[in-house]
Amino acid sequence: MASGVETILKEDAFLVSETNAKGTIIFANQQFCNIAEYNLEELINQAHNIVRHNDMPKAAFKDLWDTVKEGRTWQGFVKNRTASNGYYWVFATVYPYKNIDGEQCYMSIRRKPSREDVQKYSELYKTMH
Ligand SMILES: Cc1cc2nc3c(=O)[nH]c(=O)nc-3n(C[C@H](O)[C@H](O)[C@H](O)COP(=O)(O)O)c2cc1C
Repeated sequence: MASGVETILKEDAFLVSETNAKGTIIFANQQFCNIAEYNLEELINQAHNIVRHNDMPKAAFKDLWDTVKEGRTWQGFVKNRTASNGYYWVFATVYPYKNIDGEQCYMSIRRKPSREDVQKYSELYKTMH
C-alpha cells in the first residue's frame, strides 16, 4: 500500500469527470481513472467524495457547490486521495451544464498545478480546518 505517496501529474495532464446534480459520478476519462487508481466501473454511480482527501477543508467544497449551483464556474486547488491512499494535487475548473435531456450536470477538468501553488494551498488548507 503506497500510503501517503504523491502522484505528480504530467505537464499535459487533463483529468475529466462529470457528475449529475447530486454529485454522483456519471463520467470520468481514462486519465482521471489512472491517476485515481480506479477502473471506470468503480467510479460510475459513486459519490464524487470517493476521491476526497481528509486534508481538504469542507469550506472549499461548500464554495465549489455554492458557485456551480448559481450557474457559475469554480476554480480551485484540490488534493485528492488515490485508491492506494496516496494523493495528487490538481487545479480544477468546475462548470455547470445541461445534458441532452435538459438535466443539470457538472463537469470538472483538472490540470497540473505549479509546485508553488501546491505548497501555498497545502499550508493554507491546514489553517482552514
Ligand atoms: C463536477 C464535480 C467534480 C468534483 N470533483 C471532486 C474531486 O475531484 N475531489 C473531491 O474531493 N471532491 C470533488 N467534488 C466535490 C464532491 O462532490 C464533494 O462535495 C466533496 O468531495 C466533499 O465531500 P462531502 O460533500 O461528502 O463533504 C466534485 C464535485 C463536482 C460537482
